Order: sequence, then C-alpha cells, then structure tokens
Amino acid sequence: MSAEERLRRYEAQFKQDFPEQSLSAFELRLRMYQDWVESTLAGYFPDGPVPHETLLRSMRYSLLAGGKRLRPVLVLEFCRVCGGDVEKALPVACGVEMLHTYSLIHDDLPCMDNDDLRRGRPTNHKVFGEFTATLAGDALQAEAFASVLSADLPSDRLVRCARILASVAGHNGICGGQQLDMDGEGKLLTEADLMEIHVRKTAALIRGACLMGAAAAGGSRKQETAAITYADALGLAFQIRDDILDVTSTEEELGKPIGSDAEQRKTTFMTLFGERACEQRVLELTEQAKSAVSIFPDHAFLCDLADSLAIRNH
Ligand code: IPE
Ligand code: IPE
Ligand code: MG
Ligand code: MG
Ligand code: MG
Repeated sequence: MSAEERLRRYEAQFKQDFPEQSLSAFELRLRMYQDWVESTLAGYFPDGPVPHETLLRSMRYSLLAGGKRLRPVLVLEFCRVCGGDVEKALPVACGVEMLHTYSLIHDDLPCMDNDDLRRGRPTNHKVFGEFTATLAGDALQAEAFASVLSADLPSDRLVRCARILASVAGHNGICGGQQLDMDGEGKLLTEADLMEIHVRKTAALIRGACLMGAAAAGGSRKQETAAITYADALGLAFQIRDDILDVTSTEEELGKPIGSDAEQRKTTFMTLFGERACEQRVLELTEQAKSAVSIFPDHAFLCDLADSLAIRNH
C-alpha cells in the first residue's frame, strides 16, 4: 500500500472513530506514522516461555512506554519524500527507535544521569534492577541492527542503512557524545565543547534517521545532502529545547525529571546563555532546517514537524 493510500485509510478510520475531532494535514500524517510504528513495535519480543523472559519484559517495558517516535517518523518521511516505498522502510524505522530506547535506558542508569522517571514511568533500572536494565539496553542495540537488516530492501541499501546506524551509534556518535557529556560534569564548558557533545549524543541519531530514510528510498546525493543539513539543524535545536525544558517544564508534562542537568552539574546551553538566547537559537536552527528541505516538492510535513518541535513542551 502506498503512503498516500495508507493516509487516506487512516483519515477515514479516524473520522469514523472521532467524528467530533478534526486534525490538520500535518497532525494526521504524524499520528498515522506514530500509530503505525507503535503497533509494529508492539509485535517485537513477545513474552514467551523462554528462560530469560525477564529480559524481554524489561526491553518491552521501555520500548512500549510511549515516546514521541520522532526518529522513526523521520525515517519514514524521508523515505517518502525521496520517492521510496515507506512500507519497506518500516523495519528500519523500528530499528532506529530500538536504538534510541537503548540509549535512554543507559542514559538513566545510576552511573550516568541517575534518573528515576522516563516516558512517564519509573526508569528501567528502578523496576528491573541495574543489571537487567543494562542488558535490556545491550539487547535493544543489537536487535536494532537485526530489525534494520530484516527490511525487504535491495542489499546495497540495507548495508548502507546498517553502516549509517553503526556510525551514528558508535564512538563518534551517541557513545562518544555520552562520554563527553559525562566527562563534562562539574566543569565549566565552552560553547564549542557543548557543540561537540550535542552533535554526537543527540543530533547524530537524528541525522542517521533522516539519512536512513533517504538511503532506504535509494535517494540521490542531492537528497541526502538536504537530509543531512535538515537533520543537523533540527538535531541541535532538539537538544537545546531539551535543555530548556529540563529547567522550565514540569515532571508531569515532560514524563521525566526536571532539574536533572543541574543535579548532575552539567553545563548546558541554558547555563551558558539563558532561556531567551536558547529560544532564539532554536528558532534560527528551525529556519535553517526548513530551508534545507525546500528541494523536495512535498516538504510541508518536514517544515511543520520542525516548527512543532521548536515549541514542544515534552
Ligand atoms: C530524549 O529524546 C533524549 C534526547 C536526545 C534529548 P526524546 O525527547 O525524543 O524522547 P522520547 O523518545 O520522546 O521519550
Ligand atoms: C541524552 O541527553 C541523549 C541520549 C540519550 C543519547 P539527556 O541526558 O539530556 O536526555 P534526557 O534529558 O535524559 O532525556
Ligand atoms: Mg544524559
Ligand atoms: Mg538524561
Ligand atoms: Mg536532557
């Protein structure tokens, strides 16, 4: 089924289920992608009579705890705007969400940010204990690659997707960013130091998601370049907004603790520049992201997505 046919069916079902509600074209497509990812993820790692069942429960606990599903949405939409079959990119999208979930489980561990709440629930280690949480993260990282490689795509595209995921997750991606983030605790960092952290710990996976969507579609070099420019600006804006919300939001709205950065004595964009300058920076980066995708004839969703993230409250 094409992406457009899927959207038409989703809209018809939505009107039937919620006749009194109306959604914009952006909201409709976003919810369609999110529900699709949600229901597909729910089919992974079913509880079964296996001796290590606790590990599966722990993996599913965090994977199915909600979350905005931003990264899989980016995979699917970049596949679509690059002319690909979004259905075939779905296992890639789910793999990216698994990898992201692993990074959150480990990020919350007592040896890292030591947080008790994630996605509105007690963190994985609070429920399952530290060693199971660590293993659940490890397993989700491996299963992320298994999911990407299970996609029904030509082998050259699969290899490219797996390579992208490895590079954004590895030492020069999330892990390197998290290392720098932890090393920086209690130190006064410069703006340049913060950029080194943010591009790796957060923007890298967002870049990988956009690039994997383009790669799954067999996108052109020009399309990939646009995806990278969009992703890098969006990814940086996303982490700056995360740093703002850590100070200004509430635990109920965010679904994770506020004040975590201060408690861990982190330098953030907020501590360096304050809220007004951070908001301004987010808006500038959002405009940069939007102008990068003007090469795609159908870029409205990507622009609306960037705008919605710039003002997000959770
Ligand atoms: C949180 O990511 C961690 C950061 C990189 C800032 P999200 O804000 O995307 O978390 P979920 O997936 O919606 O829970
Ligand atoms: C986390 O950054 C980035 C990764 C998980 C790789 P944060 O530590 O700021 O994320 P939150 O605020 O706990 O979600
Ligand atoms: Mg952290
Ligand atoms: Mg954290
Ligand atoms: Mg944070």
